[in-house]
Amino acid sequence: MKKRRPLFWQLYFNYLFLTVIVLGTMTTLTYFGLQRFHLEQTKKKLLSYASISESQLKNKFLRREKNFLQDHASLLGQSTHTRMTYLSATGDVLADSKRSPSEMDSHKNRPEWQSALKTGYGEAVRFSKTLGQTLIYVAVRVSGPGKIYGVIRAAQPLESIRATSMNIFIQLGIASLVVLILVSTFSIILSRKFSNPLRDLRLRVFNLTHGDLSSRMDLENISGPKELFHLARSFNNMADELEARIDRMNQFEQMRKDFVANVSHELRTPLTSIGGFIETLQEGEVSEEEQKKFYQIISRQTHRLTAIVNDLLMLSKIEKKQEDKSITFTQTPLAPVLNSAIEVLKPKAKKSEIEIQLHCDESIQLLMEPQLLEQAIVNLVDNAIKYSESHSQIKVTVTSQENSIRIDVSDEGVGIPEEHLPRIFERFYRVDKARSRKVGGTGLGLSIVKHIAILHKGTASIRSKINEGTTITLVLPKARLKNQ
Ligand SMILES: Nc1ncnc2c1ncn2[C@@H]1O[C@H](COP(=O)(O)OP(=O)(O)OP(=O)(O)O)[C@@H](O)[C@H]1O
Ligand SMILES: [Mg+2]
Repeated sequence: MKKRRPLFWQLYFNYLFLTVIVLGTMTTLTYFGLQRFHLEQTKKKLLSYASISESQLKNKFLRREKNFLQDHASLLGQSTHTRMTYLSATGDVLADSKRSPSEMDSHKNRPEWQSALKTGYGEAVRFSKTLGQTLIYVAVRVSGPGKIYGVIRAAQPLESIRATSMNIFIQLGIASLVVLILVSTFSIILSRKFSNPLRDLRLRVFNLTHGDLSSRMDLENISGPKELFHLARSFNNMADELEARIDRMNQFEQMRKDFVANVSHELRTPLTSIGGFIETLQEGEVSEEEQKKFYQIISRQTHRLTAIVNDLLMLSKIEKKQEDKSITFTQTPLAPVLNSAIEVLKPKAKKSEIEIQLHCDESIQLLMEPQLLEQAIVNLVDNAIKYSESHSQIKVTVTSQENSIRIDVSDEGVGIPEEHLPRIFERFYRVDKARSRKVGGTGLGLSIVKHIAILHKGTASIRSKINEGTTITLVLPKARLKNQ
């Protein structure tokens, strides 16, 4: 497998490498550039000395005034730290600022002399036998009309140029080193800035995969570039989403468990009761009157079981429709549906002498599944009858709103304490278990209503006051006409 180095080291070494290259190249180029510049400057200087002498000394050359020339060479040489040499047209040394001309041999073979004689100008960088060091020579011709008198040569040691350049080179080197240290520190800081959040992110991903769902990046204090910030934010969003999903899954699992427990509990009570009475009847030592009573109880409990199972079937049917989205809504007049629901319950209402009123404009239509909507109204009116005293009134009122139809089912019954209202639509939720069971309730009616409302893309809500009454309100969206 490819060997991978940490981001920190990669960034750090790349920065450092780049810096060393840049600084090295710069220093070397500067060094050589300066040296060349210096050499050129020195040549120009030497040329100017030689040229000045040439214009001053033409006559002295012509007349071969050796003493004058020697004095001149010494004086100029001393004041300019330059070696001045005056040569004849034949290459003999006439004067020299550093040596006695008598000690010096012919300079015929010196390239600068040869070139100056020929072209008027000559230069050379070479080792001087006379002085025993490398010199820069510049030579100019001294000539009159139609005649060459000699050559003037000025020279300075190359060493001095080298020394100055070396001096500058050393200073440059020191400066580079300082820059290198600065860059190195800076790149450590920068590399950390990049790599720290990434390391942090890795740690958090690790935590997340090992079950710590609360692991998040601190977006406020994240260092590094925008991309890293986006990455961290995406991570947080992902973690949020994951946490929400797992929460939902847990919630769902809990709901499922509760549901199974509730169903079992609800079924057990009537089953135990039925079982008990059958055993007693089997023993045979029961009076005829008691027998009749027991059969009645068994019959009632059987009805109760059937009711529970029917409610559960109804709920799962609605849920299945919801999941499959296989609902066949039809545009249906609302009043007949409500009427039919009320008809179902008329006998039960009559027993308690409860009056049911319906207020619904005949023209109102609704996109609905009529059987389900009727079931919802049956459940609501059934509750209203069950939880009301006799001689009271129940009203089913329909109001047409701008985009929706509102159905209120209100009674003048016992009402529901406020603290129960938020949970009233949950499955198996009953306010007063004893009372509700006595009237045959299982606590599924309202949850069926709610599911039916949701199926119709509507809502179900409740308002209630103890001993004053309860109103359940369904708000269902109006149908959109096909040509709209
Ligand atoms: N109109 C009402 N007046 C007072 N309390 C009500 C009314 N409607 C519902 N409740 C309370 O809300 C609870 C839940 O109602 P829901 O219809 O879901 O169940 P249920 O009537 O007990 O049983 P069932 O499944 O047979 O309808 C009831 O047990 C009752 O306590
Ligand atoms: Mg009910």
